Amino acid sequence: MSAASRTKTPTRQADLVIVANRLPVDRVVNADGSEDWRRSPGGLVTAIEPVMRQNDGAWIGWSGSADGGLDPFVDDGLSLVPVPLSAEEVEDFYEGFSNATLWPLYHDVVAKPEFHREWWESYVRVNRRFAAKAAEVAAEDAQVWVHDYQMQLVPAMLRELRPDLRIGFFLHIPFPPAELFQQLPWRRQLLEGLLGADLVGFQRPGASQNFVRLVRQRVGHKTHRDKIYLPDGRVVQAGSFPISIDTKALDDLARSESVAERALEIREQLGNPRKVLLGIDRLDYTKGIYDRLRAYGELVEEGTVSVEDTVFVQVATPSRERVGQYKRLRDDIDRLVGRLNGDLGEIGSPAIHYMHTSYPKDEMAALFRAADVMVVTPLRDGMNLVAKEYVACRWDDRGALVLSEFAGAADELRQAYMVNPYDINGMKQTIVRAMQAEPRELSRRMKAMRKTVADHDVKDWARRFLAVLADARPLHHKQLRPSGD
Ligand code: G6P
Repeated sequence: MSAASRTKTPTRQADLVIVANRLPVDRVVNADGSEDWRRSPGGLVTAIEPVMRQNDGAWIGWSGSADGGLDPFVDDGLSLVPVPLSAEEVEDFYEGFSNATLWPLYHDVVAKPEFHREWWESYVRVNRRFAAKAAEVAAEDAQVWVHDYQMQLVPAMLRELRPDLRIGFFLHIPFPPAELFQQLPWRRQLLEGLLGADLVGFQRPGASQNFVRLVRQRVGHKTHRDKIYLPDGRVVQAGSFPISIDTKALDDLARSESVAERALEIREQLGNPRKVLLGIDRLDYTKGIYDRLRAYGELVEEGTVSVEDTVFVQVATPSRERVGQYKRLRDDIDRLVGRLNGDLGEIGSPAIHYMHTSYPKDEMAALFRAADVMVVTPLRDGMNLVAKEYVACRWDDRGALVLSEFAGAADELRQAYMVNPYDINGMKQTIVRAMQAEPRELSRRMKAMRKTVADHDVKDWARRFLAVLADARPLHHKQLRPSGD
């Protein structure tokens, strides 16, 4: 997105306010000092954009780089309100508490979480800044929707500043079982932060139940099913709202001629193999990339598949590159890919085609269209939108989805080839089964999954969340319009 498409706007009062760590666009400073804005990583933007447009809302977030105050601006019709983070806050709040404490803790401790008091202090400070900005931007009785693990204290801080607001919170990542959550030295503060909301939403029903149970045990509030009764008379509602994708837009994109041509070209460039297997993930230790590649390497080593007629394409999008665990993961994957290609590749036929980069949507759609087997094997994942995106792009009812049972998407995409990503032998067998399945079988499974993602798209998700929020705390004189089609 160029700087030219942006216009400055005076801060005005909005009826719908989105609070998320990131703005929908990232500020990139070029070598010559000029600036560009690019769509930021993660699925949040696609999810929220339609409802933002419908309700003429404002979006509060960070620009993605350490900077001073940027003025509010309009980008592509969206009202954006930047919140600054200093270089130290990027380290302590973003890389530290958000991504080296909460992220691993909430994902089954697949990496060891670090607990540092300075990081926590920074988290409190930054959350307070976001809450203050939301209090400033929201119109009277407005609806404020706070997103994700970086912002868990915002609901209570905001309620204190603006008791008139209707506040919703949605956690995009898993919420851990009590046994793990209890490790957090600041567990009670986080629960109390969330309880500032009228509605606390999760991806899966189990997460919502974990939350309610923890509130009962740790904070001592009365609960009944998915409701929490606070001593001041307020009722907080919890619930599950599995997030989705813009199914129609992706389906349309995948049907376009340019994507079809590019898909053919990709297969050609890969040497027209019999089978193409594909992984697309943020380079994150929760995604199970290492074990997936090992499983594939063993299949080649044992001669079950040959590098002449099968290729594995792995795209790993750069992510959180200054965090220690992410640096180590990158080195581990680089080493593994190097070893597999060195040991198993032939001239013109590497075992793994590995790309450490991010691609635009149309290239992703072409990759999805080119792949016979999509391999999505996270060790733990809130939802995993890549799995749903693959399904949305397969309007030909072909292609197989291999999916980890530890991804939220496994609740809905039940016709996928399910795997336990910790079980390497099981994963190998299932990948082979998916590779060898008959077209009729693939089509039966794909049709059913396509119906699921067509019936439950992201507009539906946002509409449902906002409707439950409206019921959780009715405001009689102001109602937002739900997002239309
Ligand atoms: C996940 C999180 C998002 C986050 C995204 C990208 O999807 O749920 O909150 O924005 O990853 O990570 P990053 O650290 O680059 O924002």
